[in-house]
Amino acid sequence: MAETVICDIRAVRSVIEAVGLDRFMDDVIEAMRISFRAFDPEATVTIDRTGFAYDKPDLGLVEWMPTMEVGGRVSIKTVGYHPTNPTQRSMPSVMATTSLHDTTSGRLVALTDATFLTAIRTGAASALATEQLSPDRPIDLAVIGCGAQSVSQIHAISRVREIRSIRAFDPQSEVARTLRRRLPPSVVAEVEVVDGDDARARMLGDTDVLVTATSVDPDAGPVVDDGAHRPHLHVNAVGADFPGKVELPRSLAERAVLVPDNLRQCLAEGEAQTMTADQLGPELFELLQSPRPSLQHELTVFDSTGWALEDLIAAEVLLGHCERLGLGLTIDLQPDPADPYDPYDAVR
Ligand SMILES: NC(=O)c1ccc[n+]([C@@H]2O[C@H](COP(=O)([O-])OP(=O)(O)OC[C@H]3O[C@@H](n4cnc5c(N)ncnc54)[C@H](O)[C@@H]3O)[C@@H](O)[C@H]2O)c1
Repeated sequence: MAETVICDIRAVRSVIEAVGLDRFMDDVIEAMRISFRAFDPEATVTIDRTGFAYDKPDLGLVEWMPTMEVGGRVSIKTVGYHPTNPTQRSMPSVMATTSLHDTTSGRLVALTDATFLTAIRTGAASALATEQLSPDRPIDLAVIGCGAQSVSQIHAISRVREIRSIRAFDPQSEVARTLRRRLPPSVVAEVEVVDGDDARARMLGDTDVLVTATSVDPDAGPVVDDGAHRPHLHVNAVGADFPGKVELPRSLAERAVLVPDNLRQCLAEGEAQTMTADQLGPELFELLQSPRPSLQHELTVFDSTGWALEDLIAAEVLLGHCERLGLGLTIDLQPDPADPYDPYDAVR
């Protein structure tokens, strides 16, 4: 059989109608927690992502992110990032699909939208980092960059910490003002929009957890000013995922315990790109395997660049629900010839 399950956005919507956004987020957080605790680099192989970056017709990139469970599946997320999409085309900046291949035959097992899944898994990774790196009590949250990722960041963090207050800054203040409306109802905190010339300087203070999720251009960061902060401030830095693109002042990144999602990728394109491996803390999966509760009282940064393993985990959660609920379209995308030596058999 050469069947492929297509999980288009309608199927994703039906899954969420059936299970709810909160449970889906919880499922991905839990699947990631289990997977990171068991992570073994011999058993899960990730190849560095690569792709095309361009400035014509507009600044953007299309890249692919492969990972393989040895003896299991290969997952390849193909992701586009076009930061002018929301304002010029009314489309998300990040648009993605994930394909899953079985390593017995190479068959394409499934093809799924990964635009929604990218937001969910990026949020889930920050939730695990926040759980490890911020004190376990109600938090004052600050968010810089109020686009698509900020929604799932706040949602995911709310699943592991009670959010007492949210302050939000975005140079497009109209985007910051719609943030509250885009959050799921289970997030109950109000959103205070921070405005004005000194907004960047006011985001660190009175904050337990800071999220930076901006589309700042390469070489245009940082997006926040260094300054006084609570001793246990934890930052989920989500937007730095390209050479030259950083969100944090170097002084802050360098005095923090910086926890990479994936060491090599963070050194190449994350907040860690101006640093060396010996200046960094443990990777997130290492923290899950050997927690260090003392870090909850220090300045910490989760350097989130987006790890291909997270895409595989999220796709498997989605496809598990699709299978259980009978959702998704099963098609014969690839041939199933009577004679496997005859490439024309399937089209005769
Ligand atoms: N770490 C990961 O796994 C991961 C996953 C997805 C996206 N990303 C990155 O996260 C970032 C945000 O993605 P998105 O989908 O939310 O994009 P988006 O376009 O929906 O939102 C980005 C927001 O950032 C704001 N912004 C731009 N420059 C800013 C600045 N200097 N200060 C404050 N805000 C600023 C924009 O006005 C916009 O509202 C992108 O850089 C993207 O590459 C990372």
